[in-house]
Amino acid sequence: MDRIRIRGGAPLNGTIPISGAKNAALPLMIASLLTEDTLELVNVPRLADISSLLRILSNHGVDHTIAGKRPGQTTETGQTIRLSAKTIIDTTAPYELVSTMRASFWVVAPLLARLGEAKVSMPGGCAIGTRPVDLLIMALERLGAQIEIDAGYVLAKAPRGLKGGEIAFPKVTVGGTHVALMAAALADGTTVIENAAREPEVVDLAACLSKMGARIEGAGSARIVVDGVSRLHGATHEVLPDRIETGTYAMAVAMTGGEVTLENTRPELLESALDVLRQAGVEVSAVNEGIRIRRNGGGIAPVDVTTDPFPGFPTDLQAQFMALMTRAAGTSRIRETIFENRFMHVQELARLGARIQLDGETATIEGVDRLKGAPVMATDLRASVSLVIAALAAEGETMVNRVYHLDRGFERLEDKLARCGAAIERVSG
Ligand code: EPU
Repeated sequence: MDRIRIRGGAPLNGTIPISGAKNAALPLMIASLLTEDTLELVNVPRLADISSLLRILSNHGVDHTIAGKRPGQTTETGQTIRLSAKTIIDTTAPYELVSTMRASFWVVAPLLARLGEAKVSMPGGCAIGTRPVDLLIMALERLGAQIEIDAGYVLAKAPRGLKGGEIAFPKVTVGGTHVALMAAALADGTTVIENAAREPEVVDLAACLSKMGARIEGAGSARIVVDGVSRLHGATHEVLPDRIETGTYAMAVAMTGGEVTLENTRPELLESALDVLRQAGVEVSAVNEGIRIRRNGGGIAPVDVTTDPFPGFPTDLQAQFMALMTRAAGTSRIRETIFENRFMHVQELARLGARIQLDGETATIEGVDRLKGAPVMATDLRASVSLVIAALAAEGETMVNRVYHLDRGFERLEDKLARCGAAIERVSG
């Protein structure tokens, strides 16, 4: 199993290209099930989760081609994937596949909307909390689906097609909103989604569905109205930049000091996180190529943060921000309100010398003068990368184990950081 070795202490200087967003690419790929035509997605990141979803979609009969490199393209630019769900050969998503990636549960919506039936394994437990699917099921029921749960599978049926309806989410859910959008796009009549997630990835999915012929208004607000159509057609869509990758590298630069331009990304995708970085004493500026992050000389100020749905501070940046706060000049508090168990990085950060106390959904971080390298590992993607950030500022060597978590969501992480001066390398085997 690969590991990553980091020798801390070097500032980061240079340019980091930001990839297409994993969490936008996944629902966009799933949306290919809604049409017989080809959906072409541009700027898809090269990640393990993308490959897993391609395997899952193949099982339903989706053919895909990964376009050859065009002139000027390198492996550093995103890939173009063409997906064609002309004939769906299987409406079952088995446990062995769904359990590898939670988001694959979302195939339930397009399968049901297009074919009137789907049998999809419940995703099961997850390292960052219980993460149930009750609200996704509720959304489908509101559109007339009959749902049964049997032997760990969700059996969804709508023999005469889905009907538009009102879906009021009691809690903001990104996956619930994706599912509602995809199902409503092919339902008969109008659907109103209340308390919809406003995340940029929801807006991206709605934009792609609209190109495919869906009639959607209000994406990006808490109320989305979808007028169902009888069929959708092919389209070409470019995946939006990864705001979590953007924020992660911004925090890495804040941690080490230096000056880095994050290319091919946009500040409005993560204003709340950039504001918090400014409060911590980091210079953040919008430039033509993207966002410039700079911290030279000054220390890191402590800042209190609460995670919230967009446009609030993202839970997917909580662990990275905690890593930064371990070196702040004072005490900060981080409240995690989205997932109840998303603090597994705390123990591992402590191995590097961080002082963190947990009390329910709040972590109190007392900044320390120095961190010291150690072997560490983490059980999810964002927790793993928080250890990389801490290691970049720790004295001596840190070995990050279980790198497959990083490969699920960060494209060429060690390469991007090494080019900016970090002493980081992958150790195979
Ligand atoms: N929830 C329910 N019932 C449901 C669905 C969700 O109670 O039926 C709860 C969850 O347990 C959680 C909250 O609602 O407490 C929000 O969950 P949400 O549905 O928004 O999360 P998700 O769609 O499963 C996506 C991202 C996550 C990200 C969250 C929150 C993808 C593939 N995943 O998950 O990303 O943390 O939204 O922004 O888009 C990651 O990339 O590392 C990651 C975990």
